[in-house]
Amino acid sequence: MSPAVPLFTESFSGRAHGKVNLHLGVGEARADGYHELSTVFMAVDRPETVTLTPAEEASISTTFHVEEPDEDVDTPRNLAWRAVEALAGAAGDTEGANLPPVRIEVDKTIPVAGGMAGGSADAAAAVVAAEALLLHYGYTVEPEDRDNVLKALGADVPFAAMGGVALGTDRGDSLVPMMCRGSYWFTFLNPKVGLSTGKVFEKLDDLRFTYASMVPHMDTALISRALLSGDPHQVGAAMHNDLEPAALALRPSLQQIIHDAEDAGAIRAMVSGSGPTIAALCEDQAVALRVVDKLTAQGNIDGFAAQGPVGGAALL
Ligand code: C5P
Repeated sequence: MSPAVPLFTESFSGRAHGKVNLHLGVGEARADGYHELSTVFMAVDRPETVTLTPAEEASISTTFHVEEPDEDVDTPRNLAWRAVEALAGAAGDTEGANLPPVRIEVDKTIPVAGGMAGGSADAAAAVVAAEALLLHYGYTVEPEDRDNVLKALGADVPFAAMGGVALGTDRGDSLVPMMCRGSYWFTFLNPKVGLSTGKVFEKLDDLRFTYASMVPHMDTALISRALLSGDPHQVGAAMHNDLEPAALALRPSLQQIIHDAEDAGAIRAMVSGSGPTIAALCEDQAVALRVVDKLTAQGNIDGFAAQGPVGGAALL
């Protein structure tokens, strides 16, 4: 039996941020369906907030500050829901924690299925909130168990938890923090219709089968050096994404957004992660806001400026 819901329920909120891959090298497809990555993540200040409140019944509801997806995301399949369940399962003894049902509220500012790891940020924020909720009920979670839960929730979830700038290898989930000087302004441009991450990776495998010249770029030395300079021009010149040709093959119209963003003043525009969001690195905030204005004028693209690096998942 679940413990009774206390009369004065306390809420627990966690927050995590979106990311951009400044370098995304994709290696071979592995037997587990994932690809070996060599990627440089930077967390950017687009927050996702997850609030957990003990309630009579388990539920989830999402508030969108970005384009709402066609599909209903307020189901137990939601990563935030799965994160709370998984962490509760890892707490206490082998049977997991005995918690009351919780109401989960997700506040989203990151485009859905956009290549900025919004769902992964929800999961990381939910894990932080769930850890505090569990502690409130007298349960602790071993750091190793929490790390395993983060990895099991998705390849980008450990970075959403960690934040900052990091090199990701294996599935992108074995992380080492990287040195970075200065901070960087980006414009993120989202054509409102998402792309499936799995389909973009599959497309890259197809393209590589046909075009032998499309080799993996696993060397991150160039971007590592650029990040030490503090100079957005050097960083822009070093940005690279192996998934870009695959995202462009599936969504050729993205090429125009890249062109227009650079035309409007961005130093370098590139597909963010698996897309379709375009990340445009700019000289400063003023340029980033100008690029937003120009590219969103026709109404078919959502855009916002965001700065990185910022921190990882934290309790509010
Ligand atoms: O881990 P996540 O659910 O975010 O990954 C979504 C999909 O992206 C995977 O099912 C896989 O098809 C693809 N992927 C991959 N290699 C990675 C990360 C993701 O092939 N390193």
